[in-house]
Amino acid sequence: MWKGRFSQPTSERVQRYGESVSFDWRLYAHDIRGSIAQSKALLKAGIITKQEQTDIERGLLAIKEEITSGNFEWQESLEDVHMNIESELTQRIGPAGAKLHTARSRNDQVALDVRLYCRDEVDAIVAHISELQRALVQCAERNQKAIMPGYTHLQRGQPVLFAHHLLAYVEMLERDTNRLMDASERLNVMPLGSGALAGSTILLDRELIAKELGFPAITQNSMDAVSDRDYVAEILFAIALCGVHLSRLSEDIILWASAEFGFIALSDAHTTGSSLMPQKKNPDVAELTRGKTGRLIGNLMAILTILKGLPMTYNRDMQEDKEPLFDSIDTIKAALGVFAEMVSGMDVRTEKTKAAASDPMLLATDLADWLVKQGLPFRHAHEVIGKLVAYSIEQKRGFADLKVSEYKQFWKGFNKSVYKVLTLDTALAARKNSGAPSPANVAAQLKRWRKLLSA
Ligand code: ARG
Repeated sequence: MWKGRFSQPTSERVQRYGESVSFDWRLYAHDIRGSIAQSKALLKAGIITKQEQTDIERGLLAIKEEITSGNFEWQESLEDVHMNIESELTQRIGPAGAKLHTARSRNDQVALDVRLYCRDEVDAIVAHISELQRALVQCAERNQKAIMPGYTHLQRGQPVLFAHHLLAYVEMLERDTNRLMDASERLNVMPLGSGALAGSTILLDRELIAKELGFPAITQNSMDAVSDRDYVAEILFAIALCGVHLSRLSEDIILWASAEFGFIALSDAHTTGSSLMPQKKNPDVAELTRGKTGRLIGNLMAILTILKGLPMTYNRDMQEDKEPLFDSIDTIKAALGVFAEMVSGMDVRTEKTKAAASDPMLLATDLADWLVKQGLPFRHAHEVIGKLVAYSIEQKRGFADLKVSEYKQFWKGFNKSVYKVLTLDTALAARKNSGAPSPANVAAQLKRWRKLLSA
């Protein structure tokens, strides 16, 4: 493509080192879509005839079909997806093909292709997120009555509904969706016409190209347009954070599936055995996801590091954006998909969650709140109940088993109505601040999510 200036062919090692077609071939559909829009602008600019535009469009669509069916021969010597397709087109249709790259550089071309690709992939990831959210909501609905301890520091804190715990992840995933869609909105700007860095002396109707490709706006600075990879970084961040959320869910699932917790049983289809220990049933899907999150974070670090030292404008370093991008997109889609399946097949051992939640200590805060309702300042109430907790541990008797006279040793105003707060059902029902896990609140949240996710 640049043979005019050179008297030596590219060394084979350099070719192998610099080629990107082995991975950027997957941009072909977007590359072809962009080239067809480009040809329409060239027609309008009077650079090609109607016949030539038709030939280009037909030629490109035929190449696309060949690639899709797996019959296209990619050539490493042609470096990347862009030159492979352009060269094939020119071979097929002659001089009209050689006119296609007028007023265009691979720099604005690749910027366009990646934006188009990201736009589509964000939609695909968002659909995968919804699928997992639906699986979580359904699991929460199947186990709507299940009570479990809520933890801080992995120490039992206060009782919650299992459904409330799962809905926390549905919230996180919703923010992931919003972040991805927000990034998608920002990247939805059309860069063609920026050329290598300074546009072109050949005037193209950029608005026409944007309209053709469904972009609501065009880039306003040609140098920024060819050197900008913010959208790659933003998407990699949104994916990494989604991965972090899945990794935290993984950690919960791994703990819950252990004999020590025993809160859930994963289906045989979503666990693996041991080649040595016959009894084992391992939560590999969750462990792999926790592990793969390392890759997602690494990919984000890679793009930030690639970009940080680059002078304006395009530098070949930027070709290194694609493998992390593709890897993160593939990884998160796979993880979300397999998680949706695993959550759908997950059984909750409600007797185990209930037993754990029946630890009387979980109601210590409720006792302090009872004192507050009798007029004690919370700090004072906290201290009184703290001493009662120590006494109860020393006595090896729960709060419900202590006599009123024993309560009175810690605060003389105690009376038998205190026992009313000492049941799990009362404790949960009383947590009716919005956002808190009373059964009525959780039912309303489930209803809200069911509606949102079916839309
Ligand atoms: N394969 C290149 C990339 O992904 C396309 C742009 C090449 N531009 C250049 N001036 N060599 O970045």
